[in-house]
Amino acid sequence: PDQSGLANSVGVTLDRFIKKKQDDFTFASGELSQLLRDIALAAKIVNRETNRAGLSRISGSFGHTNIQGEDQQKLDVIANIRFMRALSKGGEVCAIISEEDDEVVEFKNKSGKYVVAIDPLDGSSNIDVNVSIGTIFSIYRRVTPIGSQIRTEDIMQAGNTQVASGYIIYGSSTMLVYTTGRGVNGFTYEPSLGEFFLSHPDMKAPQNGEIYSINEGIYNQFDEGLKSYLQLCKSRKLCARYIGSLVADFHRNLLKGGIYIYPATSSLPNGKLRLLYEANALAFIAEQAGAVASNGTNRILDVMPTSLHQRTPLIIGSKKMVDEVLAINNKFS
Ligand code: AHG
Ligand code: MN
Ligand code: MN
Ligand code: MN
Repeated sequence: PDQSGLANSVGVTLDRFIKKKQDDFTFASGELSQLLRDIALAAKIVNRETNRAGLSRISGSFGHTNIQGEDQQKLDVIANIRFMRALSKGGEVCAIISEEDDEVVEFKNKSGKYVVAIDPLDGSSNIDVNVSIGTIFSIYRRVTPIGSQIRTEDIMQAGNTQVASGYIIYGSSTMLVYTTGRGVNGFTYEPSLGEFFLSHPDMKAPQNGEIYSINEGIYNQFDEGLKSYLQLCKSRKLCARYIGSLVADFHRNLLKGGIYIYPATSSLPNGKLRLLYEANALAFIAEQAGAVASNGTNRILDVMPTSLHQRTPLIIGSKKMVDEVLAINNKFS
């Protein structure tokens, strides 16, 4: 078979795929490829720890409240350490923004070209009850001179400047899904071989869907426009699926069609999800797969960050479903 066909065929390893895609990148000098490999390595380690959490007494609370005001789980902390360590050893990254660190973590080695924003473990409330959880990451190129002191403009970049983004879902199978701006590809982990294999080449989200994901427990805190959209979903007998792990709901909606909404609420006026390490990464993937991601008024990727852990309302999924929510919002505003 022709070389390019080989690299896009199901079953090729992640390493082989990255290498082939790097060859396609005329100016790629290999650092981004190495960075993606470093992330995959950390994912394999976190996957093993996730699968044995109940045995190695690393489930449960770590006993510390993070800057989000959440009770940090041990696996939140462990996953954070694993990704930090893999990325600092890899040498391609100069700074990391993490949900689990109050401030930006700057590496001593300042020669790295990239900045990574990461949610090391998404869906922490599901760790102890054996429900799918994930990791979400965004990769940016630093904009100030390599080797110099990291500056705010390296960290506060809009999502539309992402070089790559992706997620790992630790579910019935463990998958890594990522984009470098040339489509979305999904890899399934084979633990017996310690390799990710291409299983979902060139992923495209259905333009419409029958599934909606939202925490209706806080329905009374939703605005009128959203309430009327939810009534519409019920009148159409759509399927309600809400896992409590954004990565898992997003992944299912990407494959089957659907919409995930975490809106502004009276107690969380900017919603719950964080722009830098949740919304931006999934918005990049969504758009690369023909789906849409909005904060209710703007494209997520166009939002200019002003603070590290800022929250954003998130409406993300099949284009026709998101467009309908936005149209209803307009009618009510
Ligand atoms: P994290 O565990 O990284 O803090 O993120 C949890 C997020 C998201 O994964 C999930 O969809 C949402 O929080 C669930 O929030 P509610 O429990 O408020 O519905
Ligand atoms: Mn959290
Ligand atoms: Mn999260
Ligand atoms: Mn998290």
